[in-house]
Amino acid sequence: MKPAAENAPLKQLDDWDDFVATRYRQGKSEAEFRNYKAEANPTVTEFYRQNHAYQTFDFVQQKKAEYCSLNRGKKSIWEMAEYLNTLVDDSDPDTDLTQIEHLLQTAEAIRKDGHPRWFILTGFLHDLGKVLCLYGEPQWAVVGDTFPVVCAYSDQVVFPEFFSANPDSKIPAYQTEYGIYESGCGLHQVHLSFGHDEYIYQATRAYVPEEAQYMLRYHSFYAAHRHGAYRHLMNDRDARLFDWVRKFNAYDLYSKGRERPESQEILPYYEDLVSEFFPAKIDW
Ligand SMILES: [Fe+2]
Ligand SMILES: [Fe+2]
Repeated sequence: MKPAAENAPLKQLDDWDDFVATRYRQGKSEAEFRNYKAEANPTVTEFYRQNHAYQTFDFVQQKKAEYCSLNRGKKSIWEMAEYLNTLVDDSDPDTDLTQIEHLLQTAEAIRKDGHPRWFILTGFLHDLGKVLCLYGEPQWAVVGDTFPVVCAYSDQVVFPEFFSANPDSKIPAYQTEYGIYESGCGLHQVHLSFGHDEYIYQATRAYVPEEAQYMLRYHSFYAAHRHGAYRHLMNDRDARLFDWVRKFNAYDLYSKGRERPESQEILPYYEDLVSEFFPAKIDW
């Protein structure tokens, strides 16, 4: 493993989330969106360079084997949230939200719009997978726009030029339109670059409805849910459930500017909500 600084170009993990929120700022035109590179500071650009270069098929398989069997022990959702909250990086405690505050803020925005309880819960859970960073994973294996590996990279993924440094780009069989997949095979057959989406999906899938599973698993798959890329790999079920992924994304992106949530007041509501869906402890 390379030294930490080299693997951590972002000052804090949330710099990636902030970049995405800027990229999709409300009211932005398509032409303005295309200009995202101007808004990416050098650390974000370096982060994508690493992400695109290092997320190979081998790497994805290795990380799925390591984390998706959920053999790191049992913890409650709350213990995990508290653990995630220890991730402070260089954030400014006066202005930056804590990790739990971001989760609560997203969930509260969903609650205010009168959505069902499972949807609110999904807002509260969605970034818990970022604990991967605390397990020692580099930033490029935790956050970043996700994309399918082992088929042609779409130019709808940000910074597509960085894929040329990925060893998989040199394997012709991996670079056809379908790669190792079949037309309409369904996203459950497709390997996406590894990150916090996959981990939280795997940890919680047994307890939440299918719509929530999709929101969790694909919330960083911007090329697909924002730009309609990779439709040739999706089946009808994916296409239908991506409506929910899009619905969720608005809350993830745009709840940040709101006021700091009154955590103490709303906590009992969330304790109830979590215990409605989850047993005391689950496997992580
Ligand atoms: Fe996320
Ligand atoms: Fe988020």
